[in-house]
Amino acid sequence: MKKLIALALLSASMGGFAQNEPGDFLTSEFHMERRTLVREKMPENSVAVFFTNPVRNRANDVDFIYHQDPNFYYLTGYREPHAVLMIFKEEQEGPEERFNEIIFIQPRNARAEMWTGRRLGTTGVKEKLAFNQVFNNTDFEDYNIDFSTFDKVLFYDFFNDVRDTRTEGDLYDLIASFKSKSGYPTEGDLTIESAANNLDMETLDQIMKDLRGIKTKDEIELLRKAVDISCIGQAEVMKAMKPGLSEREVQGIHEFVFKKYQAEYEGYPSIVGEGNNGCILHYIENYKPEITSDKMILMDLGAEYHGYTADVTRTIPVDGKFSKEEKAIYDLVYKAQDEAIKAAKPGVNIGRDLDAAIARRIINEGLAELGIIESVDQRHLYYPHGLGHHIGLDVHDKGNYEYLEAGMAITIEPGIYIPEGADCDEKWWGIAVRIEDCILITEDGNELLSDLAPRKSDEIEKLMQEPSPLDSFVLPELGKD
Ligand code: GLY
Ligand code: MN
Ligand code: MN
Repeated sequence: MKKLIALALLSASMGGFAQNEPGDFLTSEFHMERRTLVREKMPENSVAVFFTNPVRNRANDVDFIYHQDPNFYYLTGYREPHAVLMIFKEEQEGPEERFNEIIFIQPRNARAEMWTGRRLGTTGVKEKLAFNQVFNNTDFEDYNIDFSTFDKVLFYDFFNDVRDTRTEGDLYDLIASFKSKSGYPTEGDLTIESAANNLDMETLDQIMKDLRGIKTKDEIELLRKAVDISCIGQAEVMKAMKPGLSEREVQGIHEFVFKKYQAEYEGYPSIVGEGNNGCILHYIENYKPEITSDKMILMDLGAEYHGYTADVTRTIPVDGKFSKEEKAIYDLVYKAQDEAIKAAKPGVNIGRDLDAAIARRIINEGLAELGIIESVDQRHLYYPHGLGHHIGLDVHDKGNYEYLEAGMAITIEPGIYIPEGADCDEKWWGIAVRIEDCILITEDGNELLSDLAPRKSDEIEKLMQEPSPLDSFVLPELGKD
């Protein structure tokens, strides 16, 4: 209960960047330390160059809500577009002082800010994000840097999906300037042989995986909040669930809970699929207008809180009671998941030690026992995905997969999906179960982060009997006077 009260108070704490923002964002010290660690891992005489995410157009003059590139956010805390960051391995000689990092950001502009929101500008970035060398992005083109003097220029290759907004210094211009300054192959001559031979588009990703894969105390705190919020959403939906709701309405209840706790976004498009729709792994249409009492509903949703996203799935019976077949499949997935969670600790490999040796083996044995497959060795598509992945600033976060280490945050998410028409007794058709939890690897095992949403079939049935405040939330019918 203490946990819940703490969550309710989240939004009441100190001021942030913009007016009335919560104060529990990562600090400038955190981001600065991350840059220092990148620098330590960089090769001698190198520079690392990072760009912000592009602004994506939705239609006409409306853009999608802006989301920063997670690497850029991790290293700077900057949440605006059209910027470039350079981290130098060695100190550089400046006109006034030596420096080892520099950032070019979008300038203040009263007119633009009136329409699309406040900008930090160079003064704000110096003060709030603790950078010394801060310039407007319009200065990047004339910035005097000779990339050929570095042994390595580290960056991520480009996807050519950036619009030219025709605003001087925008991301399109920043990338064009960088390409021209660095000797990146030009459009008509796109071969790596034609590029300057110090360009390195591989090393940076490994550095970022090494760093982002191990969470700090501050990151874990935000991740815990994202996971708690998502679990509270699942628990509230369990109480509110009833036949006749639409998939979209169920999605809305989860997302309302996210917003209630000040989670900015969903970490990925919400997946809410009743019956056979649950067999589509990333089903995001959520269109079914009325869910029915004889089905289960699979709900895979994650709140994103200050950049960090949860990834939690629960599958529940619409009418509050698992049928015999549903329970058989549910309990099998639960057993596979629970055994895998028990075995997750430093030194083990997710794919080999937790999935192949435990979860997948248990699922195959169970499917064979239930007669859904003929033998444990039969190849099938009833469990077509991996067991888990890192979570963090991305839902499928950067991190290493060879061995688990303390400080890694991962999901454990086995599933069984039996679509209509599958090659088994039709009593199993349309049953889709995924149970997905978030765990934190500790020195000697792991901690289950997503324990606020029940996982066991009998615990789910019990919670589903409780009343929901939404039971009395009735809106007028459209088109009726
Ligand atoms: N929600 C996406 C996944 O489970 O990986
Ligand atoms: Mn997942
Ligand atoms: Mn998921």
